[in-house]
Amino acid sequence: MKASQNRVNFGSKIGAILAAAGSAVGLGNIWRFPYETGNNGGAAFILIYLACVIIMGLPIMMSEFVIGRHSRANTAGAYRVLAPGSPWRFIGYMGVLAGFLILSYYSVVAGWTLEYTLQAGIGGFSGMKAEDFATSFIAFSQNPWKPMLWMVVFLVLTHAVIVMGVKKGIEKSAKIMMPMLFILILVLVCCSLSLPGADKGLKFLLQPDFSKVTPGVFLSAMGQAFFSLSLGLGCLSTYASYFNKETNLGKTALSVGCIDTCVAIMAGIIIFPAAFSVGISPDAGPSLLFITLPNVFQLAFGDIPLLAYIFSLMFYILLALAALTSTISMHEVVTAFVHEEWHVSRNRAANYVTLGCILLGILSSLSFGVLSHFLIGGMTFFDFLDALTSKVMLPLGGMLIALFTGWYLNRQIVWEEISNGGRLKVPYFKCYLLVVKYFAPIAIGLIFINELGVL
Ligand code: TRP
Repeated sequence: MKASQNRVNFGSKIGAILAAAGSAVGLGNIWRFPYETGNNGGAAFILIYLACVIIMGLPIMMSEFVIGRHSRANTAGAYRVLAPGSPWRFIGYMGVLAGFLILSYYSVVAGWTLEYTLQAGIGGFSGMKAEDFATSFIAFSQNPWKPMLWMVVFLVLTHAVIVMGVKKGIEKSAKIMMPMLFILILVLVCCSLSLPGADKGLKFLLQPDFSKVTPGVFLSAMGQAFFSLSLGLGCLSTYASYFNKETNLGKTALSVGCIDTCVAIMAGIIIFPAAFSVGISPDAGPSLLFITLPNVFQLAFGDIPLLAYIFSLMFYILLALAALTSTISMHEVVTAFVHEEWHVSRNRAANYVTLGCILLGILSSLSFGVLSHFLIGGMTFFDFLDALTSKVMLPLGGMLIALFTGWYLNRQIVWEEISNGGRLKVPYFKCYLLVVKYFAPIAIGLIFINELGVL
Protein backbone atom coordinates (compact mmCIF):
# COMPACT_ATOMS: atom_id res chain seq x y z
CA MET A 1 0.00 0.00 0.00
CA LYS A 2 1.32 3.47 -0.87
CA ALA A 3 1.37 6.21 1.73
CA SER A 4 -2.24 7.13 1.32
CA GLN A 5 -3.05 10.63 0.14
CA ASN A 6 -6.66 10.72 1.18
CA ARG A 7 -6.27 9.29 4.63
CA VAL A 8 -8.45 11.01 7.22
CA ASN A 9 -6.87 13.62 9.46
CA PHE A 10 -7.66 15.05 12.83
CA GLY A 11 -9.48 18.32 12.22
CA SER A 12 -7.38 20.64 14.37
CA LYS A 13 -4.11 20.92 16.25
CA ILE A 14 -5.86 20.96 19.58
CA GLY A 15 -7.88 17.92 18.49
CA ALA A 16 -4.63 16.09 17.75
CA ILE A 17 -3.12 17.02 21.11
CA LEU A 18 -6.25 16.07 23.03
CA ALA A 19 -6.58 12.74 21.24
CA ALA A 20 -2.95 11.86 21.99
CA ALA A 21 -3.29 13.13 25.57
CA GLY A 22 -6.51 11.14 25.84
CA SER A 23 -4.57 8.04 24.91
CA ALA A 24 -1.82 8.79 27.40
CA VAL A 25 -3.99 9.83 30.34
CA GLY A 26 -5.83 6.81 31.66
CA LEU A 27 -5.86 4.13 34.29
CA GLY A 28 -2.08 4.18 33.95
CA ASN A 29 -2.04 7.58 35.63
CA ILE A 30 -4.87 7.34 38.11
CA TRP A 31 -4.79 3.67 39.09
CA ARG A 32 -1.39 2.21 38.12
CA PHE A 33 0.90 5.16 38.92
CA PRO A 34 -0.23 5.51 42.55
CA TYR A 35 0.04 1.81 43.33
CA GLU A 36 3.41 1.46 41.60
CA THR A 37 4.61 4.48 43.55
CA GLY A 38 3.27 2.90 46.73
CA ASN A 39 4.91 -0.45 46.01
CA ASN A 40 8.25 1.09 45.10
CA GLY A 41 8.74 3.40 48.00
CA GLY A 42 7.23 6.75 47.01
CA ALA A 43 9.15 9.88 46.02
CA ALA A 44 12.38 8.16 44.91
CA PHE A 45 10.34 6.13 42.42
CA ILE A 46 8.74 9.33 41.13
CA LEU A 47 12.13 10.93 40.50
CA ILE A 48 13.34 7.92 38.51
CA TYR A 49 10.03 7.91 36.69
CA LEU A 50 10.45 11.58 35.74
CA ALA A 51 13.97 10.88 34.47
CA CYS A 52 12.58 8.07 32.30
CA VAL A 53 9.90 10.38 30.89
CA ILE A 54 12.49 13.01 29.94
CA ILE A 55 15.34 10.82 28.71
CA MET A 56 13.33 8.15 26.96
CA GLY A 57 9.68 9.11 26.88
CA LEU A 58 9.63 12.40 25.03
CA PRO A 59 12.25 11.56 22.37
CA ILE A 60 10.64 8.19 21.68
CA MET A 61 7.25 9.85 21.46
CA MET A 62 8.66 12.21 18.83
CA SER A 63 10.06 9.21 16.97
CA GLU A 64 6.64 7.56 16.97
CA PHE A 65 5.17 10.80 15.61
CA VAL A 66 7.80 10.93 12.84
CA ILE A 67 7.17 7.31 11.86
CA GLY A 68 3.39 7.68 11.92
CA ARG A 69 3.02 10.96 10.12
CA HIS A 70 5.60 10.20 7.47
CA SER A 71 4.26 6.75 6.61
CA ARG A 72 0.60 7.63 7.11
CA ALA A 73 -0.06 4.00 7.90
CA ASN A 74 -0.89 1.71 10.80
CA THR A 75 1.96 0.65 13.04
CA ALA A 76 2.97 -2.45 11.06
CA GLY A 77 2.27 -0.86 7.66
CA ALA A 78 4.52 2.04 8.67
CA TYR A 79 7.64 -0.11 8.50
CA ARG A 80 6.56 -1.59 5.19
CA VAL A 81 6.36 1.94 3.80
CA LEU A 82 9.54 3.26 5.43
CA ALA A 83 11.74 0.16 5.35
CA PRO A 84 10.33 -2.17 2.67
CA GLY A 85 11.34 -5.80 2.94
CA SER A 86 13.35 -5.32 6.11
CA PRO A 87 12.93 -7.05 9.47
CA TRP A 88 12.05 -3.71 11.09
CA ARG A 89 8.42 -4.59 10.43
CA PHE A 90 8.58 -6.91 13.45
CA ILE A 91 8.50 -3.81 15.65
CA GLY A 92 5.07 -3.22 14.17
CA TYR A 93 3.85 -6.79 14.67
CA MET A 94 5.08 -6.83 18.24
CA GLY A 95 3.31 -3.51 18.77
CA VAL A 96 -0.02 -4.76 17.47
CA LEU A 97 0.26 -7.84 19.67
CA ALA A 98 1.17 -5.73 22.72
CA GLY A 99 -1.75 -3.39 22.01
CA PHE A 100 -4.13 -6.32 21.83
CA LEU A 101 -2.80 -7.87 25.05
CA ILE A 102 -2.93 -4.61 27.00
CA LEU A 103 -6.42 -3.80 25.76
CA SER A 104 -7.65 -7.21 26.94
CA TYR A 105 -6.55 -6.84 30.57
CA TYR A 106 -6.96 -3.06 30.76
CA SER A 107 -10.63 -3.48 29.88
CA VAL A 108 -11.10 -5.58 33.01
CA VAL A 109 -10.10 -2.71 35.30
CA ALA A 110 -11.95 -0.29 33.04
CA GLY A 111 -15.02 -2.46 33.61
CA TRP A 112 -14.57 -2.17 37.38
CA THR A 113 -14.83 1.61 37.02
CA LEU A 114 -18.30 1.17 35.53
CA GLU A 115 -19.48 -0.97 38.46
CA TYR A 116 -18.15 1.66 40.86
CA THR A 117 -19.79 4.45 38.87
CA LEU A 118 -23.06 2.57 39.13
CA GLN A 119 -22.63 1.94 42.86
CA ALA A 120 -21.77 5.59 43.43
CA GLY A 121 -24.75 6.61 41.31
CA ILE A 122 -27.29 4.55 43.24
CA GLY A 123 -25.82 5.74 46.53
CA GLY A 124 -24.47 2.27 47.36
CA PHE A 125 -21.51 3.64 49.31
CA SER A 126 -23.41 5.65 51.86
CA GLY A 127 -22.90 4.56 55.42
CA MET A 128 -20.15 2.06 54.54
CA LYS A 129 -17.02 1.74 56.72
CA ALA A 130 -13.37 1.18 55.73
CA GLU A 131 -13.57 -2.61 56.15
CA ASP A 132 -16.79 -2.74 54.17
CA PHE A 133 -15.07 -1.22 51.16
CA ALA A 134 -12.32 -3.81 51.29
CA THR A 135 -14.73 -6.73 51.60
CA SER A 136 -17.06 -5.46 48.94
CA PHE A 137 -14.17 -4.89 46.49
CA ILE A 138 -12.85 -8.39 47.08
CA ALA A 139 -16.30 -9.92 46.72
CA PHE A 140 -16.89 -7.99 43.50
CA SER A 141 -13.54 -8.70 41.85
CA GLN A 142 -13.73 -12.40 42.72
CA ASN A 143 -17.25 -12.77 41.39
CA PRO A 144 -16.99 -14.62 38.07
CA TRP A 145 -19.81 -12.85 36.23
CA LYS A 146 -20.18 -9.23 37.21
CA PRO A 147 -16.68 -7.96 36.34
CA MET A 148 -16.77 -9.95 33.13
CA LEU A 149 -20.03 -8.37 32.06
CA TRP A 150 -18.70 -4.89 32.80
CA MET A 151 -15.58 -5.65 30.76
CA VAL A 152 -17.79 -6.59 27.81
CA VAL A 153 -19.81 -3.38 28.26
CA PHE A 154 -16.62 -1.34 28.30
CA LEU A 155 -15.30 -2.97 25.15
CA VAL A 156 -18.63 -2.40 23.41
CA LEU A 157 -18.49 1.31 24.35
CA THR A 158 -14.95 1.50 22.95
CA HIS A 159 -16.13 -0.31 19.84
CA ALA A 160 -18.93 2.22 19.35
CA VAL A 161 -16.48 5.14 19.29
CA ILE A 162 -14.08 3.33 16.97
CA VAL A 163 -16.74 2.59 14.36
CA MET A 164 -17.73 6.27 14.35
CA GLY A 165 -14.31 6.91 12.85
CA VAL A 166 -11.26 9.04 13.50
CA LYS A 167 -12.79 12.52 13.37
CA LYS A 168 -16.30 11.99 14.63
CA GLY A 169 -15.40 9.24 17.08
CA ILE A 170 -11.86 9.57 18.40
CA GLU A 171 -11.27 13.30 18.06
CA LYS A 172 -14.71 14.45 19.11
CA SER A 173 -14.88 12.20 22.15
CA ALA A 174 -11.44 13.40 23.30
CA LYS A 175 -12.48 17.03 22.89
CA ILE A 176 -15.48 16.51 25.13
CA MET A 177 -13.98 14.12 27.67
CA MET A 178 -10.53 15.60 28.29
CA PRO A 179 -11.63 19.04 29.56
CA MET A 180 -14.20 17.37 31.83
CA LEU A 181 -11.46 15.21 33.17
CA PHE A 182 -9.17 18.13 34.02
CA ILE A 183 -11.88 19.95 35.92
CA LEU A 184 -12.82 16.84 37.88
CA ILE A 185 -9.20 16.18 38.80
CA LEU A 186 -8.66 19.71 40.08
CA VAL A 187 -11.75 19.55 42.25
CA LEU A 188 -10.65 16.21 43.70
CA VAL A 189 -7.12 17.46 44.44
CA CYS A 190 -8.60 20.26 46.55
CA CYS A 191 -10.92 17.82 48.24
CA SER A 192 -8.16 15.37 49.16
CA LEU A 193 -5.76 18.04 50.41
CA SER A 194 -8.37 19.29 52.83
CA LEU A 195 -8.53 15.91 54.63
CA PRO A 196 -7.03 15.64 58.10
CA GLY A 197 -3.60 13.98 57.94
CA ALA A 198 -3.10 14.91 54.30
CA ASP A 199 0.46 16.07 55.03
CA LYS A 200 1.64 12.48 55.67
CA GLY A 201 0.54 11.50 52.20
CA LEU A 202 2.23 14.51 50.65
CA LYS A 203 5.45 13.70 52.46
CA PHE A 204 5.36 10.18 51.05
CA LEU A 205 5.03 11.69 47.58
CA LEU A 206 7.66 14.40 47.95
CA GLN A 207 10.38 13.14 50.30
CA PRO A 208 12.56 10.59 48.53
CA ASP A 209 13.94 7.65 50.46
CA PHE A 210 16.70 6.22 48.27
CA SER A 211 17.28 3.25 50.54
CA LYS A 212 14.23 1.66 48.94
CA VAL A 213 15.68 1.81 45.43
CA THR A 214 16.48 -1.66 44.10
CA PRO A 215 17.17 -2.68 40.47
CA GLY A 216 13.50 -3.62 40.19
CA VAL A 217 12.50 -0.04 40.92
CA PHE A 218 14.25 1.16 37.75
CA LEU A 219 12.47 -1.41 35.62
CA SER A 220 9.13 -0.58 37.21
CA ALA A 221 9.65 3.15 36.69
CA MET A 222 10.64 2.64 33.07
CA GLY A 223 7.70 0.30 32.45
CA GLN A 224 5.38 2.82 34.07
CA ALA A 225 6.74 5.66 31.91
CA PHE A 226 6.14 3.69 28.71
CA PHE A 227 2.75 2.51 29.84
CA SER A 228 1.58 5.90 30.95
CA LEU A 229 2.80 7.75 27.86
CA SER A 230 1.28 5.06 25.57
CA LEU A 231 4.70 4.38 24.09
CA GLY A 232 6.50 1.46 22.57
CA LEU A 233 3.77 -0.23 20.57
CA GLY A 234 3.02 2.32 17.87
CA CYS A 235 -0.12 3.69 19.47
CA LEU A 236 0.98 7.29 19.13
CA SER A 237 2.44 6.55 15.71
CA THR A 238 -1.00 5.34 14.62
CA TYR A 239 -2.51 8.59 15.93
CA ALA A 240 0.26 10.58 14.25
CA SER A 241 -0.72 9.01 10.95
CA TYR A 242 -3.87 11.15 11.32
CA PHE A 243 -1.93 14.37 12.14
CA ASN A 244 -1.93 17.00 9.42
CA LYS A 245 1.14 18.70 7.94
CA GLU A 246 0.87 21.67 10.28
CA THR A 247 1.06 19.72 13.53
CA ASN A 248 4.23 20.62 15.40
CA LEU A 249 5.57 17.24 16.49
CA GLY A 250 7.98 18.50 19.17
CA LYS A 251 5.40 20.77 20.76
CA THR A 252 2.74 18.08 20.66
CA ALA A 253 5.06 15.57 22.35
CA LEU A 254 5.92 18.10 25.04
CA SER A 255 2.27 18.95 25.66
CA VAL A 256 1.24 15.31 25.86
CA GLY A 257 4.18 14.49 28.16
CA CYS A 258 3.38 17.41 30.47
CA ILE A 259 -0.34 16.71 30.62
CA ASP A 260 0.28 13.04 31.32
CA THR A 261 2.85 13.69 34.04
CA CYS A 262 0.74 16.36 35.71
CA VAL A 263 -2.28 14.08 35.80
CA ALA A 264 -0.22 11.25 37.31
CA ILE A 265 1.19 13.50 40.04
CA MET A 266 -2.23 14.95 40.73
CA ALA A 267 -3.65 11.44 40.99
CA GLY A 268 -0.93 10.77 43.57
CA ILE A 269 -1.98 13.93 45.41
CA ILE A 270 -5.58 12.73 45.37
CA ILE A 271 -4.89 9.19 46.51
CA PHE A 272 -2.00 9.24 49.05
CA PRO A 273 -3.27 11.88 51.44
CA ALA A 274 -6.56 10.08 51.22
CA ALA A 275 -5.01 6.66 51.92
CA PHE A 276 -2.94 7.93 54.84
CA SER A 277 -5.82 9.78 56.38
CA VAL A 278 -7.87 6.60 56.56
CA GLY A 279 -4.90 4.48 57.63
CA ILE A 280 -4.63 2.33 54.50
CA SER A 281 -1.13 1.27 53.54
CA PRO A 282 0.15 2.91 50.33
CA ASP A 283 1.45 -0.41 49.04
CA ALA A 284 -1.98 -2.01 48.90
CA GLY A 285 -1.49 -2.67 45.17
CA PRO A 286 -4.13 -2.60 42.45
CA SER A 287 -6.98 -2.41 44.94
CA LEU A 288 -5.66 0.86 46.43
CA LEU A 289 -7.87 3.01 44.28
CA PHE A 290 -11.02 0.98 44.68
CA ILE A 291 -10.83 0.65 48.43
CA THR A 292 -9.38 3.93 49.67
CA LEU A 293 -11.18 6.36 47.47
CA PRO A 294 -14.82 5.58 48.09
CA ASN A 295 -13.97 5.50 51.77
CA VAL A 296 -12.39 8.92 51.66
CA PHE A 297 -15.49 10.56 50.35
CA GLN A 298 -17.55 9.02 53.10
CA LEU A 299 -15.10 10.25 55.72
CA ALA A 300 -14.56 13.68 54.27
CA PHE A 301 -18.22 14.46 53.83
CA GLY A 302 -19.79 12.11 56.30
CA ASP A 303 -22.01 14.86 57.68
CA ILE A 304 -23.12 16.05 54.26
CA PRO A 305 -24.14 12.85 52.44
CA LEU A 306 -25.06 14.74 49.29
CA LEU A 307 -21.46 15.94 48.86
CA ALA A 308 -20.08 12.46 49.50
CA TYR A 309 -22.47 11.20 46.86
CA ILE A 310 -21.52 13.83 44.29
CA PHE A 311 -17.76 13.45 44.77
CA SER A 312 -17.73 9.67 44.55
CA LEU A 313 -19.88 9.71 41.48
CA MET A 314 -17.65 12.35 39.88
CA PHE A 315 -14.51 10.42 40.65
CA TYR A 316 -15.64 7.18 39.08
CA ILE A 317 -17.04 8.95 36.05
CA LEU A 318 -13.63 10.59 35.69
CA LEU A 319 -11.90 7.26 35.89
CA ALA A 320 -14.20 5.66 33.34
CA LEU A 321 -13.72 8.57 30.93
CA ALA A 322 -9.95 8.47 31.27
CA ALA A 323 -9.98 4.73 30.66
CA LEU A 324 -12.23 5.09 27.64
CA THR A 325 -10.02 7.57 25.77
CA SER A 326 -7.16 5.10 26.34
CA THR A 327 -8.96 1.92 25.32
CA ILE A 328 -10.06 3.75 22.18
CA SER A 329 -6.42 4.37 21.27
CA MET A 330 -5.37 0.76 21.80
CA HIS A 331 -8.36 -0.52 19.89
CA GLU A 332 -7.47 1.84 17.05
CA VAL A 333 -3.94 0.40 16.81
CA VAL A 334 -5.24 -3.10 16.22
CA THR A 335 -8.27 -2.08 14.17
CA ALA A 336 -6.19 0.10 11.81
CA PHE A 337 -3.77 -2.80 11.40
CA VAL A 338 -6.46 -5.39 10.62
CA HIS A 339 -8.33 -2.96 8.36
CA GLU A 340 -5.33 -1.88 6.30
CA GLU A 341 -3.15 -4.99 6.31
CA TRP A 342 -5.79 -7.68 5.98
CA HIS A 343 -7.94 -5.57 3.68
CA VAL A 344 -11.20 -5.94 5.52
CA SER A 345 -13.65 -3.10 6.17
CA ARG A 346 -13.04 -0.93 9.22
CA ASN A 347 -16.23 -2.13 10.88
CA ARG A 348 -15.40 -5.76 10.40
CA ALA A 349 -11.86 -5.16 11.66
CA ALA A 350 -13.30 -3.51 14.78
CA ASN A 351 -15.60 -6.53 15.29
CA TYR A 352 -12.66 -8.93 15.24
CA VAL A 353 -10.69 -6.85 17.71
CA THR A 354 -13.57 -6.44 20.13
CA LEU A 355 -14.44 -10.12 20.04
CA GLY A 356 -10.82 -11.24 20.44
CA CYS A 357 -10.34 -8.92 23.40
CA ILE A 358 -13.47 -10.15 25.09
CA LEU A 359 -12.26 -13.74 24.82
CA LEU A 360 -8.80 -12.99 26.19
CA GLY A 361 -10.16 -10.51 28.74
CA ILE A 362 -12.28 -13.26 30.30
CA LEU A 363 -9.10 -15.00 31.44
CA SER A 364 -7.76 -11.82 33.01
CA SER A 365 -11.07 -11.11 34.67
CA LEU A 366 -11.30 -14.59 36.15
CA SER A 367 -7.72 -14.42 37.38
CA PHE A 368 -8.96 -12.40 40.38
CA GLY A 369 -11.31 -15.19 41.38
CA VAL A 370 -11.70 -18.74 40.12
CA LEU A 371 -8.42 -18.65 38.15
CA SER A 372 -6.38 -17.02 40.91
CA HIS A 373 -4.42 -20.26 41.39
CA PHE A 374 -3.51 -20.54 37.76
CA LEU A 375 -0.05 -18.97 37.82
CA ILE A 376 2.50 -18.21 35.10
CA GLY A 377 5.96 -17.57 36.52
CA GLY A 378 4.36 -17.06 39.92
CA MET A 379 1.94 -14.45 38.59
CA THR A 380 -1.77 -14.55 37.87
CA PHE A 381 -2.75 -14.28 34.22
CA PHE A 382 -3.61 -10.60 34.69
CA ASP A 383 -0.29 -9.78 36.40
CA PHE A 384 1.60 -11.83 33.84
CA LEU A 385 0.14 -9.89 30.90
CA ASP A 386 0.82 -6.61 32.68
CA ALA A 387 4.45 -7.52 33.43
CA LEU A 388 5.09 -9.00 29.97
CA THR A 389 3.77 -5.94 28.16
CA SER A 390 4.89 -3.06 30.34
CA LYS A 391 8.23 -4.41 31.48
CA VAL A 392 9.35 -6.24 28.35
CA MET A 393 7.40 -5.48 25.18
CA LEU A 394 6.97 -1.72 25.59
CA PRO A 395 10.57 -0.84 26.55
CA LEU A 396 11.89 -3.21 23.90
CA GLY A 397 9.56 -1.68 21.31
CA GLY A 398 10.63 1.80 22.44
CA MET A 399 14.29 0.92 22.14
CA LEU A 400 13.80 -0.40 18.61
CA ILE A 401 11.75 2.64 17.62
CA ALA A 402 14.56 4.91 18.87
CA LEU A 403 17.16 2.89 16.97
CA PHE A 404 15.00 2.90 13.85
CA THR A 405 14.66 6.69 13.74
CA GLY A 406 18.21 7.27 14.97
CA TRP A 407 20.10 4.89 12.71
CA TYR A 408 17.95 3.58 9.88
CA LEU A 409 15.61 6.33 8.80
CA ASN A 410 17.07 8.93 6.48
CA ARG A 411 18.13 11.94 8.57
CA GLN A 412 16.55 14.32 6.04
CA ILE A 413 13.16 12.65 6.49
CA VAL A 414 13.39 12.93 10.27
CA TRP A 415 14.40 16.58 10.03
CA GLU A 416 11.61 17.42 7.59
CA GLU A 417 8.99 15.84 9.79
CA ILE A 418 10.19 17.52 12.96
CA SER A 419 10.65 20.93 11.36
CA ASN A 420 7.57 20.63 9.12
CA GLY A 421 9.70 20.91 6.00
CA GLY A 422 11.94 23.63 7.45
CA ARG A 423 9.08 25.91 8.46
CA LEU A 424 9.66 25.45 12.19
CA LYS A 425 12.80 26.31 14.11
CA VAL A 426 14.03 23.19 15.89
CA PRO A 427 17.13 24.11 17.89
CA TYR A 428 16.76 20.84 19.82
CA PHE A 429 17.16 18.65 16.73
CA LYS A 430 20.77 17.59 17.36
CA CYS A 431 20.00 16.86 20.95
CA TYR A 432 17.00 14.77 19.90
CA LEU A 433 19.14 12.75 17.48
CA LEU A 434 21.78 12.15 20.11
CA VAL A 435 19.18 10.85 22.52
CA VAL A 436 17.47 8.46 20.10
CA LYS A 437 20.76 7.20 18.69
CA TYR A 438 22.60 6.63 21.96
CA PHE A 439 21.06 7.75 25.23
CA ALA A 440 17.63 6.16 25.12
CA PRO A 441 18.67 2.75 23.73
CA ILE A 442 21.63 2.52 26.10
CA ALA A 443 19.55 3.55 29.11
CA ILE A 444 16.86 0.99 28.28
CA GLY A 445 19.51 -1.67 27.67
CA LEU A 446 21.20 -0.93 31.00
CA ILE A 447 17.94 -1.21 32.89
CA PHE A 448 17.24 -4.57 31.25
CA ILE A 449 20.74 -5.84 32.07
CA ASN A 450 20.48 -4.45 35.57
CA GLU A 451 17.25 -6.33 36.12
CA LEU A 452 18.85 -9.58 35.00
CA GLY A 453 21.27 -9.06 37.85
CA VAL A 454 24.38 -8.91 35.68
CA LEU A 455 25.37 -5.44 36.85
N1 TRP B 1 -1.41 5.29 28.50
C1 TRP B 1 -2.64 4.71 28.89
C2 TRP B 1 -2.82 4.88 30.38
O1 TRP B 1 -2.03 5.50 31.01
C3 TRP B 1 -2.78 3.28 28.44
C4 TRP B 1 -2.44 3.09 27.02
C5 TRP B 1 -3.15 3.55 25.96
C6 TRP B 1 -1.27 2.48 26.52
N2 TRP B 1 -2.51 3.27 24.80
C7 TRP B 1 -1.35 2.60 25.12
C8 TRP B 1 -0.19 1.87 27.11
C9 TRP B 1 -0.32 2.13 24.33
C10 TRP B 1 0.84 1.40 26.33
C11 TRP B 1 0.79 1.54 24.94
O2 TRP B 1 -3.74 4.39 30.94
